[in-house]
Amino acid sequence: MHTIKITYGKERIKNDVLIVDYFEDQPIDYGERFADNDPFYEIAKPAFESKDFAGKWKQTIILYASGKLPEKRVMLIGLGERSDVYPFKIKVSLAHALKKMNSFHELKTVSVFINKEYDSDKVKEIATFLVEAAYMSQYQAKNYKKDQKLFSPIEHLHLVISDNADEKDIEEAIHQGKIIGQGINEVRDLINKPSSEVTPSYLANYTLDLASKNEQIECKIFHRDQLKQMGMNGIVSVGQGSNEEPKLIMCTYTPEVEAQYSIALVGKGVTFDSGGISLKPSNNMYLMKIDMAGAALVIVLMKVIALLKLPVKVYGLVPTCENMPDGNALKPGDIITAYDGTSVEVIDTDAEGRLILMDALGYAVTQKPNMIVDIATLTGACTVALGRYVIGGMSNHDPIMDIMRASGDYMYERVWELPLMEEYKLMLQSNFADIKNFGGKEAGAITAGAFLSHFVDEVPWIHLDIAGVSWFNTETSLMPHGATGIGIRLITDFMRRILKEDGKIWENKTVDIRQTLYKENEVPKYDD
Ligand code: BES
Ligand code: ZN
Ligand code: ZN
Repeated sequence: MHTIKITYGKERIKNDVLIVDYFEDQPIDYGERFADNDPFYEIAKPAFESKDFAGKWKQTIILYASGKLPEKRVMLIGLGERSDVYPFKIKVSLAHALKKMNSFHELKTVSVFINKEYDSDKVKEIATFLVEAAYMSQYQAKNYKKDQKLFSPIEHLHLVISDNADEKDIEEAIHQGKIIGQGINEVRDLINKPSSEVTPSYLANYTLDLASKNEQIECKIFHRDQLKQMGMNGIVSVGQGSNEEPKLIMCTYTPEVEAQYSIALVGKGVTFDSGGISLKPSNNMYLMKIDMAGAALVIVLMKVIALLKLPVKVYGLVPTCENMPDGNALKPGDIITAYDGTSVEVIDTDAEGRLILMDALGYAVTQKPNMIVDIATLTGACTVALGRYVIGGMSNHDPIMDIMRASGDYMYERVWELPLMEEYKLMLQSNFADIKNFGGKEAGAITAGAFLSHFVDEVPWIHLDIAGVSWFNTETSLMPHGATGIGIRLITDFMRRILKEDGKIWENKTVDIRQTLYKENEVPKYDD
């Protein structure tokens, strides 16, 4: 994995570029970053006077220092209207600037100012965000081409800090930015690799290896026979049409200090989803290698949480298998029994995510965590409902969902809640079993959430459907085409916010508007 050397200091150093950021229409001396007689002014003045540079959002211009500055070049970057700025925008603008530099092969070392005007919390926040931006923007997926395209990532980022900045704070901020940034890239790598490489046993070995390098993480892998014995028939059945053995990866992170609460994180780990006997159409089926994005996230989160030393007990549960059709495969009409004893009629073998998650959620409940969060590329219907920009959220507990939403807004990994009234569960009534795995063509993301809600009992729970947001077919400032690596920032921020709440949040259940007054036979039905 590409690493970037990150340094900080009050002095400027001999780097290839100095980045200087401006809000729109600010004077050249905005931010008092240079002494009055600094040659910077002479170099930058023509760009300001000609209005070639006006600080507009994502505007960049490169100027040459001709030996007058410690750095070889200056890059002015625009942040847009001052009133519109928020931390995420600063992150995107640095990422944008660094990406531009990749096309100049000699630009490998970069300095950037952290403005004087910010208080210590803001400085920390911005330093972390800048380091994250450096890692995210410099990520390249492994490519398998005969001719390796030359890519020259940034090698060194130097943060120029003001005299009153606290060095310990900056160091901590850089440390955190690195953990998060590298974590995101690790998730991307796992998702971008083909399913022939990233199989259930690959994920299992990957997690064992990660746990062996961190004393606070323990990891156990449950194989087919053990899963059968334990009654995890969802995982076994979905995996039975594949040559790859299905597995359940179970990790725990126990903090060195006393845990302030416990959380179970559950990630969908279908390493390839062909649909099974309910085979998917072949166009875009290649993308179904991403059906383990939730698993990749949960696995890497274990490491990230341990490195951040969060005082939380974490159960990481990853049911993983391949969904394939063969003579032994699960068939529509089959009835299977979940870990918690619920019988499930399988109407559609392509609705497999919920079948493996039901076992893992059932098991999570037995660990009595304060809450459960599951993350899954669960439904195409979620993409139809919300598109590519927001995660679909569903929950049985408003207070924790409000916190998740706040984290999403802050980190720009936004979550929008879909309603989860009990009526949706009624759409899953089966004639032969306790519940069926398909609720019809309407409200597909919600009926999937309603199915999962059956297995979490009364435990405060959030389901995040990331089917639409895990992969982009376009390049952005923060990433190349491919896996987005969504979730690391959202979940770590969420876990930190929960730490700031008093313990009563679990009891804060508001009036539950999700309950139904309908009776089974009163539910409107349009088709069958
Ligand atoms: N893995 C898919 C959902 C998906 C779609 C993920 C697009 C990423 C991108 C999931 O297992 C699936 O096939 N869901 C079906 C459910 C249906 C059969 C009830 C869907 O959404 O069509
Ligand atoms: Zn499927
Ligand atoms: Zn799937």
